[in-house]
Amino acid sequence: MTPRDGACVSLWQDSVTPFRPVNQPDRNLIYDVAIAGGGITGLTTALLLQQSGKSCILLEAETLGFGTSGGTTAHINTFLDTPYSTIHKNFGEDNAQLVANAAKEAIELISRNIRDHHIECGFEYKPAYVFAETEEEEKELRKIHEATIGAGVDMEAVTEIPVPFGFKSAFRINGQAQFHPLDYLLALAKAFEDAGGIIIQHCRVLDVQNDTPLDIETDAGNYKAVAIVFATHIPVGINLLHLRCIPYRSYAMAVTLENDAAYPEALVYDSQDPYHYYRTQLVDGKKYMIAGGYDHRTAEEENTENRFRQLEAYLRTHFAVEEVHYRWSSQYFEPADGLPYIGHLPGHPGNIYVATGFGGNGMTYSAVAALLLKSMILGETSPYQSLFNPNRIKPVAGFLNFIKHNADVAVHLAGSLWSATRIATLSELAPGEGKVVKYDDHKIALYKDEAGVLHAVHAACTHMKCSVTWNTAERSWDCPCHGARFSAAGKVLTGPANIPLEPIQLNP
Ligand code: FES
Repeated sequence: MTPRDGACVSLWQDSVTPFRPVNQPDRNLIYDVAIAGGGITGLTTALLLQQSGKSCILLEAETLGFGTSGGTTAHINTFLDTPYSTIHKNFGEDNAQLVANAAKEAIELISRNIRDHHIECGFEYKPAYVFAETEEEEKELRKIHEATIGAGVDMEAVTEIPVPFGFKSAFRINGQAQFHPLDYLLALAKAFEDAGGIIIQHCRVLDVQNDTPLDIETDAGNYKAVAIVFATHIPVGINLLHLRCIPYRSYAMAVTLENDAAYPEALVYDSQDPYHYYRTQLVDGKKYMIAGGYDHRTAEEENTENRFRQLEAYLRTHFAVEEVHYRWSSQYFEPADGLPYIGHLPGHPGNIYVATGFGGNGMTYSAVAALLLKSMILGETSPYQSLFNPNRIKPVAGFLNFIKHNADVAVHLAGSLWSATRIATLSELAPGEGKVVKYDDHKIALYKDEAGVLHAVHAACTHMKCSVTWNTAERSWDCPCHGARFSAAGKVLTGPANIPLEPIQLNP
């Protein structure tokens, strides 16, 4: 099993072994490109650049696939979470077509990588189905259908769907795909090393000095590179993108069904908000239905066990579930205007690049990002550069909410430490539980481990001082502002924070 950023174990992480890098770095070398982040975005980008003749070094804070790539449900779509009707409204019809083209090229790239590198990852093209259960959903879905067709994506009305739900109308979208994300990612890593690339794990990028070449400070020594790509979901430091992306959590389960004919041989979505989704994947010869939903803004729900309970109850209402084998959650970032941010990091027009705000389409947009960033770094022109430009300003309706969200959370501030006896009386905690408590004017994040020992850290997120919230299911401290996550003991699991929560020495 390879590790991931939470206590719950995903189907994917349980079926692979951790990556062991072979190639050794040369600390005296100035690399052409450093890539921060060993998820699918980072590895796809690194491989493309290395194959194009650039010398690349990939720096991963933990281990490959530790973040969302190990917790995705791995739907590969041209039919995107931000409906084409919204993209059309915000960016125009031509740009909606460009987005659809970018998504098609992304699936082609994934398919080509699998063919060229003989990757066994259960990749299959599948149709997708989307259905409406109410009149309101039906009205919305018809608008989406019209805009999707307009963007050039093949979507047609159908009278049957491969899941046991009543529906008012439904559509099929051809040319979608699925795979085992970590099998794919680890094979990309091998191909990257075979091409001469360097992978360093347990190497968190802390800072980049904007010199020529860039001086990259990590917690495992410094490296130099001409350019750097932040493929870390959200970049470290404080950046405009922290105002333009909002972190969400999504919940997934891998279950077996009593009836073999009940497994949906397609990607399926309802139209609820947030929506439920289903698909089937064979892993190590065993068939699983993967289902998900019940998304919420990060840290909005403390008792995240509730989301799993809701998802399981919903599944058992509609399917004869034999057994729930895996349940896990993962994080994604919603962009303010519906499209991802890929290109120059705002405020850094030179050689610092970023790819973030993929929403629920990380598999597709990771490949879009890799293609676009490769073009930009090689000095080629790309039709997608201005469309996904992170510096774009689109004052659409949702954007104000993002500003407000950040203004709201700016009041979460914290302070300092103290007496173990008094702290223990502030909160009754069972082993394995965590809670933020007030101690005078200070917020303290308390966790009682399985042995009954109390651990205390400051609740102030080390990124911009918002107060973290306990995540019951994943046993982590999650920050509502920009999505940083920390282990129960305060270690960084997910950026943009890059230093641990400040420990508190408890005095007897
Ligand atoms: Fe920005 Fe916590 S992630 S304040």
